[in-house]
Amino acid sequence: MGDLFWNKVAGVLIGAVLAVMAITELGHLLVPSHGAHELTDENTSYPVDWAAIESGGGEAEPVEEGPTDYGLLLANADISNGERVARRCAACHTFEQGGANGVGPNLWGVVGADIATHAGFSYSAALQALEGEWTYEALNHFIESPASYAPGTAMSFRGLSDEAQRFDLIAYLHSLSDNPLPFPDPLPEEGEMTEEVSDMAEQAGEAMGDMAEEAGEQAAEMAPEGEEPAPAEDDTAGEEPQEGGH
Ligand code: HEC
Repeated sequence: MGDLFWNKVAGVLIGAVLAVMAITELGHLLVPSHGAHELTDENTSYPVDWAAIESGGGEAEPVEEGPTDYGLLLANADISNGERVARRCAACHTFEQGGANGVGPNLWGVVGADIATHAGFSYSAALQALEGEWTYEALNHFIESPASYAPGTAMSFRGLSDEAQRFDLIAYLHSLSDNPLPFPDPLPEEGEMTEEVSDMAEQAGEAMGDMAEEAGEQAAEMAPEGEEPAPAEDDTAGEEPQEGGH
């Protein structure tokens, strides 16, 4: 025994620690990485203990804010509610095709349009300085807070802080087109992750099984001297890959 005995003890301990780490990691993967407030009964297909999520499920770590899933949010948006929300913009904007510019430019077809290019409207320097097109992302941030997205903008509107309202509204704006752009695909992450996680779970399960067997064998070998060591199970002993060799 001697050195070999302690090698085995260390091996079993290290194996156990690794297994605990793997399971912890698995837990982190299983917990959705986007904010719990973005989840509703509508966008989850499994029963969820909302109270546990809200209270953090006893975990000290704050839930990480994942990337905004535009595809998912837009696919779940309520266009007719967006039309209602758009009444808050109607004091300054018209929405119909060929509608007049008012205090603000007409917004028909604004999704995907170049920023600050609607015919016949004179934009502020702040808006003209913005590069690119009105992507979903740009609109989302601009509508959330015009003054922070385009400091100095002439759009004196405080902004919509409610994300669900913004996405309903953006889905409505998106519909104002002869040829609406397709919505982006929802982030693939979740489906792929589920597969990955179940693979990992399988592997972890197998590893645990192997380890348990190995530990059993080793325990048998380590039986106190004087007693006959319990015979290792012959049918499994041969085919078990010996991990490491330390
Ligand atoms: C008080 C008037 C006012 C309200 C209310 C208002 N806007 Fe505006 N909006 C403007 C003005 C003015 C501009 C031009 C801004 C500039 O040139 O800086 C503008 C510009 C925009 C643009 C950029 C258009 C382009 O052609 O680049 C978008 C998009 C927009 N508004 C959306 C909205 C939405 C959505 C709402 C309602 C949630 C809203 N606005 C509410 C006045 C308003």
